[in-house]
Amino acid sequence: MSACCGPSSLDEQSVDSGNLPVAVIGAGPVGLAAAAHLAERGVDFVVLESGPKVGSSVAKWGHVRVFSPWRFNIDGAARRLLEADGWTAPDNEWLPTGAEIVDGYLAPLGKLFGDRVQVGATVTAISRLGFDKVRTNGRELAPFVLRLSDGRELQARAVIDASGTYTSPNVLGASGLRAFGEETVTDLIDHALPDVLGVDRDHYEGRHTLVVGAGHSAATTLLALAQLDDTPVTWAIRAVDATRAYGGGEADALPARGALGTRLHALVTSGRVQLVTGFFTHRVTAHTKGVQVVSRDPLGVEQSIVAERIVSATGYRPDHSIAEELRLDLDPILGSTRALAPLIDPNAHSCGTVPGHGVEELTHPEPGYYAVGVKSYGRAPTFLMATGYEQVRSVVAAIAGDWDAARSVELDLPETGVCSANLAEAQEQRVGLATGVSGGLLGTPLVLATTPADGGGCCG
Ligand SMILES: Cc1cc2nc3c(=O)[nH]c(=O)nc-3n(C[C@H](O)[C@H](O)[C@H](O)COP(=O)(O)OP(=O)(O)OC[C@H]3O[C@@H](n4cnc5c(N)ncnc54)[C@H](O)[C@@H]3O)c2cc1C
Ligand SMILES: NC(=O)c1ccc[n+]([C@@H]2O[C@H](COP(=O)([O-])OP(=O)(O)OC[C@H]3O[C@@H](n4cnc5c(N)ncnc54)[C@H](OP(=O)(O)O)[C@@H]3O)[C@@H](O)[C@H]2O)c1
Repeated sequence: MSACCGPSSLDEQSVDSGNLPVAVIGAGPVGLAAAAHLAERGVDFVVLESGPKVGSSVAKWGHVRVFSPWRFNIDGAARRLLEADGWTAPDNEWLPTGAEIVDGYLAPLGKLFGDRVQVGATVTAISRLGFDKVRTNGRELAPFVLRLSDGRELQARAVIDASGTYTSPNVLGASGLRAFGEETVTDLIDHALPDVLGVDRDHYEGRHTLVVGAGHSAATTLLALAQLDDTPVTWAIRAVDATRAYGGGEADALPARGALGTRLHALVTSGRVQLVTGFFTHRVTAHTKGVQVVSRDPLGVEQSIVAERIVSATGYRPDHSIAEELRLDLDPILGSTRALAPLIDPNAHSCGTVPGHGVEELTHPEPGYYAVGVKSYGRAPTFLMATGYEQVRSVVAAIAGDWDAARSVELDLPETGVCSANLAEAQEQRVGLATGVSGGLLGTPLVLATTPADGGGCCG
């Protein structure tokens, strides 16, 4: 539903509420890139970060080495500002860990902005001053109000929401709802990605661990668990086989990403990791040996696994609740904007085939509010930082009124050759199975596995 009065589209219209700053929510890679573009354009801004430091979500997976080299992980405006300040860029081809991204890039970048970056500032709600969701006349001229958990209320001329999805992980339950009993054993469940070989080692060493999920987080966690002595590892997935989770292998344009799947495949083949397919988590209960996880497939057939710990690596979903009072037009499947959804649809796009996009695709019926970064993809798992950097370059240009720059979008992403060439993946796409490493929504009914793989005593 569009506004009844005033400009009917954002064309040629720059959002303006006097001299108010632009509010950026989240000081992750994309929020800070937005800040860099705003700084370059001389637009006043404030960055509100809920964590204790910039890059708080990235720091939580600080032990993970990313698969994209530095050259894809540094925003152009951020690089210019940092280099002007005497910063030396890291090796373009190095694959940094999350911790290296925070220490070597995000922390110095955040420091450049001084007190325009506020940490410990959690945004709990956004609206427009004097306007609830229904009130229309003059809406687009009203400032945004942002309510913070500490009781403050800030006003802004526009909102760039880069709050990510890491703080809203998916549930264990196979249907997207919490498994029965999931909340009763939270002390035995970690959401991806625990630091299995580092600070969390004591939780895992010597304990039978069940990893649920079929993406990179599951793969990364399984590879780490396999290095622990006397630690049985079970991997449960919904799909009938793990081909898609093994990914692009040697054909992957990001070699680190391909290697992940190849090494995981070897661990399953050798029996070090016990793979259980067709596993649909239904209920979870405390057990004398830890926790019993029961799968019930859509035909009602049950199997169960008893483990001492669970890693829930089932992905993430966007939390749009802070923007509940704004007018959002969300894709019903992914939770991105409707315009963006076909461009990032995991059925059609994977492994870097997402076309460049910017303000046009990110615009909601609420003028001046933009969800960017990994949050903008909703549930699509194929986001790369480089995509987010181009998004905020375009969005900030639009906010500044530079529509030529806003509309001129360029993106050069690495692709994996196997996305369209791998026969097994093509087969799986045909039957609509499994998102796995490179995505894919369930387009047709699942082909069910009625028996667990290889027995092994894990399943009843
Ligand atoms: C393990 C892992 C590895 C990845 N590897 C790669 C890779 O190799 N290459 C690549 O390009 N991408 C990778 N990604 C994907 C993506 O680029 C990252 O998730 C990236 O951190 C997304 O950046 P962002 O700024 O959009 O969100 P985030 O980094 O998640 O930042 C969001 C920030 O918002 C804050 N926040 C949340 N809610 C609020 C609130 N209500 N108020 C205020 N602040 C809030 C959070 O504390 C956080 O600091 C990876 C992701 C993960 C999880
Ligand atoms: N080293 C690295 O750089 C690295 C490491 C980890 C993660 N990442 C990145 O982080 C992002 C998130 O990755 P992720 O692996 O956490 O999430 P993800 O890519 O969304 O994968 C989660 C997978 O788990 C499965 N799943 C979802 N709900 C389930 C449930 N209830 N029960 C069983 N399985 C379920 C789905 O596969 P099915 O539909 O097939 O069941 C889904 O694809 C991605 O961008 C990824 O590339 C990168």
